[in-house]
Amino acid sequence: MKKVLVTGGLGFIGSHTVVNLIEEKYDVVIIDNLFNSKLEVLDRIEQITGVRPKFYQFDVQNISKLDEVFKNEKPDVIIHFAGYKAVGESCKKPLMYYKNNLESSFALIEMMEKYNCKNIVFSSSATVYGIPKKVPLTEEDPVQSSTSPYGETKVMIERILEDESKVHPEFNICLLRYFNPIGAHKSGLLGEDPNGIPNNLLPYINKVAVGKLDCVHVFGNDYPTVDGTGVRDYIHVCDLAKGHVLSLNKLKENPGLCIYNLGTGKGTSVLEIIKLYEEATGVKIPYVIDPRRDGDVAINYASNEKAKKELGFNCDFDVKQACLDGYNYQVAEEKRTKK
Ligand code: UFG
Repeated sequence: MKKVLVTGGLGFIGSHTVVNLIEEKYDVVIIDNLFNSKLEVLDRIEQITGVRPKFYQFDVQNISKLDEVFKNEKPDVIIHFAGYKAVGESCKKPLMYYKNNLESSFALIEMMEKYNCKNIVFSSSATVYGIPKKVPLTEEDPVQSSTSPYGETKVMIERILEDESKVHPEFNICLLRYFNPIGAHKSGLLGEDPNGIPNNLLPYINKVAVGKLDCVHVFGNDYPTVDGTGVRDYIHVCDLAKGHVLSLNKLKENPGLCIYNLGTGKGTSVLEIIKLYEEATGVKIPYVIDPRRDGDVAINYASNEKAKKELGFNCDFDVKQACLDGYNYQVAEEKRTKK
């Protein structure tokens, strides 16, 4: 299993995974339409690894172009990251989310069938567990109706891949359910810098830290949690990336369908994160308490026991380190864009 086709390979999680894959000597081919990423990321990957992966710029839904890539590249395995991912936007534009996320997955599955590519890793999310009845969440917990159209696309694509695995027992399919990825590559060259006002907590804190936004709005302090603020499982993006490489090792054992949570197994509240961020960076983060955000759950964190046992997964970085790496990336990015 040498050649890996990475869709969305210039995005936040995709780019970090590509770095790990290259470091592990995989031959990487990227497809990305640059909808939510930048071409410079390719240069940065080359700067870090010394290798410039082959890159195709188009939308994975474009089946004739996808066909060409499969014909020319003959990938052994696909890691499918490409997709829209903003929870709030998906509630306003459900059709856009269903169409894009589902069509691109259909196109890839068709190509797997046509070109006998038997292996796929799918970028899923903890959102498939819906509103958790208990934590930590294990892979045996039921997949429920999600709280957003974005989340529903993850539920649906998981279901479609599960059905495919029934009719194609030769397919090896790994569903990776991510918890909350944060942080950045230690080089300061790769990270997450969304356009406009960030929806997610850490990108928002980063903008406050560099003075681009005034203060963090904490969404609710009346949840049944340690300090009333929402609790999540924040995992360093480099640990998450490593989980993908480990999942490829698993696929080599021909497991059929397999499912893993990728999280740290530890919950951290919003106020705890702010404090850890301040400790890690020495930067004061002002905040105000706002009402709860629609669709948020109180507590969500993973059991990562299955990934530990079956993939040899573990986390090298804690939340504080992730805060520091995220901040360093933001500072570096500000300097680069000022030039
Ligand atoms: N939060 C704030 N202020 C902000 C942003 C977030 O207080 O400005 C709080 C939220 O209320 C929540 C926590 O910070 O308690 C984390 O919020 P994020 O938006 O960073 O992350 P979510 O847990 O809401 O979303 C993540 C992923 C989604 C995924 C979802 C469910 O970003 O892709 O988990 O698994 F769908």
